Amino acid sequence: MNLPRSIALGLLLVAALSNANANDFEAALSKETAQFTFRSDSSLIGWGGSDLAIGLFYNEESDFILQASLLQMRQASQENPLTFGVGVKGYLGALDDPDEDVFAFAIGGQIRYTIAGTMPMVAAGERVEPAPNGIELPAGYQDWRVISSSHREDNKTLRVILGNDAAVQAARAGKINPWPDGAVLGKLVWKDRSHPAWEKATVPGEFVHAEFMIKDAQRYPDTGGWGFARWTGLDQQPYGKDASFVQECFGCHTPVKDNDYVFTHPSAMP
Ligand code: HEC
Repeated sequence: MNLPRSIALGLLLVAALSNANANDFEAALSKETAQFTFRSDSSLIGWGGSDLAIGLFYNEESDFILQASLLQMRQASQENPLTFGVGVKGYLGALDDPDEDVFAFAIGGQIRYTIAGTMPMVAAGERVEPAPNGIELPAGYQDWRVISSSHREDNKTLRVILGNDAAVQAARAGKINPWPDGAVLGKLVWKDRSHPAWEKATVPGEFVHAEFMIKDAQRYPDTGGWGFARWTGLDQQPYGKDASFVQECFGCHTPVKDNDYVFTHPSAMP
């Protein structure tokens, strides 16, 4: 029977074409049997967020079983290692002896316990360690508004510069020399990547770090009235061995002393 072979080839192609790191493809081959399993996020079929698995088993008698499943599950976290999922699974198969076609369809649940050490990144709500100078990661910075963006040719990274409400208000009003107390500037940095569908378009790739400048003239008199802090990677590890890391930040920001130690000029917006 040719059908299983062509399906197997199809699965191999799917695996080869997809480059998202969450995908995994498994092939178990023996003399008499072959089993292929492909797992991915469901964004492959249009909407993301679920586990998608497609598997094929066949043997030399040309029996084959094709299975597909979709499972919706919450991301486990340190506080909630136990997660529950619901999903659907379908089987389709043809057996030679007894000569029978099988089809089964099921809706079911799954309980999964994730061991803490294997969690890939900080899940929502988990505490991030403060920087060595005691500055805490500003809460909710992912929702701040854009002040500008930049591209560094030397280290091939893309950045967006964001501000909290006080910073954005000051930027829009042009009252930024000096920036007011309470203003916080954030910068998110990604490695350059060329868009898979448009080579000349540079888009964010791997996340590098998030860093902040917090304006409080009373609290940070030694560093131009700014508190500096940085967290690297998606797991938000505080940067710096000890509190002296701010000298590195401040030192490099001194060429723009006359602009209140800030390089960014708010970009024009309609
Ligand atoms: C080697 C020089 C250098 C060092 C070191 C450095 N910066 Fe910067 N920083 C810049 C430059 C240049 C820009 C503006 C261009 C850009 O967007 O990257 C900038 C921009 C920023 C911005 C956006 C506001 C602005 O000034 O434009 C923040 C926030 C920031 N840096 C925080 C930090 C923190 C925190 C550290 C230390 C952990 C640090 N920087 C270390 C060069 C440096």
